[in-house]
Amino acid sequence: MSEARADPFDKLRAGYRSATLRKLERTLTDYAQRNRDVWDAWAAEYAEWAPRAWAGNEPSWGEFSIPDRELGALPESVEGMDAIELGCGTAYFSAWLAKLGAHPVGIDNSPNQLETARRMQAKFEVEFPLHLGNAEELPFPDASFDLAISEYGASIWCDPNKWIPEAARVLRPGGQLVFLVNGLIKMLCTGEDDTVATPVDECLRRPYFEMHRFEWPDDDSVEFHLGYGDWIRLLRANDFEIVELIELRPPVDSTRVAQQVPLDWARQWPCEEIWKVRKRD
Ligand SMILES: C[S@@+](CC[C@H](N)C(=O)[O-])C[C@H]1O[C@@H](n2cnc3c(N)ncnc32)[C@H](O)[C@@H]1O
Repeated sequence: MSEARADPFDKLRAGYRSATLRKLERTLTDYAQRNRDVWDAWAAEYAEWAPRAWAGNEPSWGEFSIPDRELGALPESVEGMDAIELGCGTAYFSAWLAKLGAHPVGIDNSPNQLETARRMQAKFEVEFPLHLGNAEELPFPDASFDLAISEYGASIWCDPNKWIPEAARVLRPGGQLVFLVNGLIKMLCTGEDDTVATPVDECLRRPYFEMHRFEWPDDDSVEFHLGYGDWIRLLRANDFEIVELIELRPPVDSTRVAQQVPLDWARQWPCEEIWKVRKRD
């Protein structure tokens, strides 16, 4: 925006944002603070990819961009649904939902990722509310949404023991939660000393039992991954019934190189999984 067209509310918003940031900083857990710092640093790289994702009209999932019409993870129609994206990043998924007639709201813990999302909203003229906040403590009343989604957002960067109860709280009875995570076998085939450049192994390299918090030697981020039994227990304890666990597979003609995952590996084992669950009526 040129000087001449400067938005008179910019300063006010900046003041509000820094007040919000200060409040968040006081209340953030160690890992939420660390994840905010790393995502603020990674945001520039994600900003480069954001316009391509925003230009699309069709929801797709994961590293191989598999269209939802082939997976059926989302409800058949999202038209008119109140939806929330938990850890929306540059918010392209919410933009796809908006183009299909849903009313999305995005929440993310990284001011820099949200800056990109706001720029994309202006560029593509698709507007919806974006909130700076922690998906483990959602600033929304109970039963506000029909659909909650997360594509590598809260689904891996938040503690499931905190974000799943929050997702359950803000969903209406019968509402759906759909979230993408790294495949469990993939996580077990990575080692504690692996960096982002280490290809995933073909043997188990860490214990399955008590999987929870994951940290990496080459950056300061913290992820969370659970075993299947723990996911099922947690989801059911929060009033979700499990509709489907969709194991993603690269399309036969795919040549895409996914981070850490050789194509040949991904053809044999699921490197990504989508949990599709429904809040009981
Ligand atoms: C990989 S992006 C997900 C967005 C998009 N689907 C994508 O794949 O690029 C992960 C996002 O999760 C956000 N995130 C991490 N911890 C969070 C938290 N506690 N609450 C909300 N968002 C969080 C990060 O800031 C980041 O923008």
